[in-house]
Parts: sequence; structure tokens; C-alpha cells
Amino acid sequence: MTIVELNGFGKAFTIHHLNKTIPAVNNIQFSMDAGEFIGIIGKSGSGKSTILKSIYRTYLPDAGEIIYQSKQLGRIDLAQATEREMIFLRKNEIGYVSQFLNVMPRTTCRELVQNALLEMGETRETARTEAENALTHFEMDPALWDSYPNTFSGGEKLRLNIAMATVKKPRLLLLDEPTASLDQHSKIKVREMIEKLKQQGTTLVGIFHDIEFMEGLCDKVFDMKTNQMSLAFEGVLHEG
Ligand SMILES: Nc1ncnc2c1ncn2[C@@H]1O[C@H](COP(=O)(O)OP(=O)(O)O)[C@@H](O)[C@H]1O
Ligand SMILES: [Mg+2]
Repeated sequence: MTIVELNGFGKAFTIHHLNKTIPAVNNIQFSMDAGEFIGIIGKSGSGKSTILKSIYRTYLPDAGEIIYQSKQLGRIDLAQATEREMIFLRKNEIGYVSQFLNVMPRTTCRELVQNALLEMGETRETARTEAENALTHFEMDPALWDSYPNTFSGGEKLRLNIAMATVKKPRLLLLDEPTASLDQHSKIKVREMIEKLKQQGTTLVGIFHDIEFMEGLCDKVFDMKTNQMSLAFEGVLHEG
């Protein structure tokens, strides 16, 4: 079953003080089946993040369609969905992780992970147990669980970010260089979690500057340079 399909997707940015419009991506075309992991490759500035942010609708697409097969809302074009529908999908089905932690202030690490589950309708007990499991999996020091993340190190923030997104077992997970500032050991933890989510049927789209990390994880690779999707084992990761 196709979960996401981009048809003629494009996005341009208007730089107001220069009175100019700059196309970021143009006519992107690809589709993903349930449970697949698609890696996006391409040089810096080629529009990789723009694609993920448009699927999550942090950016409003301005050309084409982003068809998403929602479990609860059915077939929906994310380029046209209402804010209300997007909020529902972000709470229940679509996760996004970047290098940056963007969370409610004055909320502890534990509360943030619990809230991610409570907003999906999980019970308090389930939320408490699963949050603890997630924080344990990503080796978050229990001394930090009841602290505010504004004082966390970069790596701790990132691990919290990943815990918040993965604890929800999203139907679709968007990863924008989530391992950028992690050490090798933490990267392995992220890899394990991705493998687990894949087994549970999560569809993933990921951008990784670290090609080795993508190897053996991705099923297909979308190359920004050629605007083409290929099977990951065809060696595309090692070209150019
Ligand atoms: N919010 C924005 N405002 C203006 N230009 C942007 C914005 N986001 C991205 N861009 C531009 O769009 C292009 C693609 O950016 P991006 O998607 O971040 O590329 P990548 O993730 O491949 O490095 C770049 O030229 C970038 O400067
Ligand atoms: Mg980027």
C-alpha cells in the first residue's frame, strides 16, 4: 500500500527584502510503500529538508500534491489539509525529528515524553511506563528525567527529541539528520529504534549526512540531483 506520494511537488521562498523568489525544489515525484525506509541524498541546499518540512507542513507547499494515506482520516493531500487536520496528524500519525529540540518551556524531560503519549489518548499509567522505557532505551540519565531540557547538552537534547517522536510509534516518521551530533554509541541506539519501528510497520523518510548510517537501513534512495528513486543496494550511496 502506498502511504505517501509526492506529485509535481514544488516549493519556492520569497526573500522579501530582495524582492525575489527562489525555487527550493521543483517537480518532485516519488511514492513510498508502507514499512519502507526512503533515504534522501543530495548536496547541501538541494532541498532535502524542504521536502520533509513540507510533508510535516512546517512549510506550506506551493505546487503539486503530497498525498498521505492516513489511518484515521483516509486519503488526504497534505498540501491542502487544514491546520486542524495537520495538528491531529502530528499528534497521532506523523513524527518529525531534526537536530533541534523545540518544546514547551517549563516542562520536564519525563513530562515531554509522557505528553507525547497522552495526546494520543494513552492512559496515565501506560504513558508513565512507556516514557520510562523510552528514556531508558536512549540511556537518558535518570537524574535528568525530572529536569528541564534547556540545560541539557546537545546530545541529550537530541536523544530526548528522538525519544519523544519514536515513543508514539508513528505511522510515518520524518528524520532530518537526527544523528548529526551524536556519538557512535548513541547512533547505534537510534539505529536499533529505527529497526524496531520498521518491524512494527512505520514508514520512514530520512536524511543522513552519514552514508554509512543509511546503509542496510534504507530500502530506497531518492537522489535530489537526478530526481530519481533507486533501490539502496544498487550502490547509489557510493557514487559521487
Ligand atoms: N525558510 C526559508 N526561507 C528562505 N529560504 C529557504 C528556507 N528554507 C530553505 N530555504 C532555501 O531553500 C533551499 C533548500 O534548502 P534546504 O531544504 O534546507 O536544503 P538541504 O536540506 O538539502 O540542505 C536553500 O537554498 C535554502 O537556502
Ligand atoms: Mg537540510
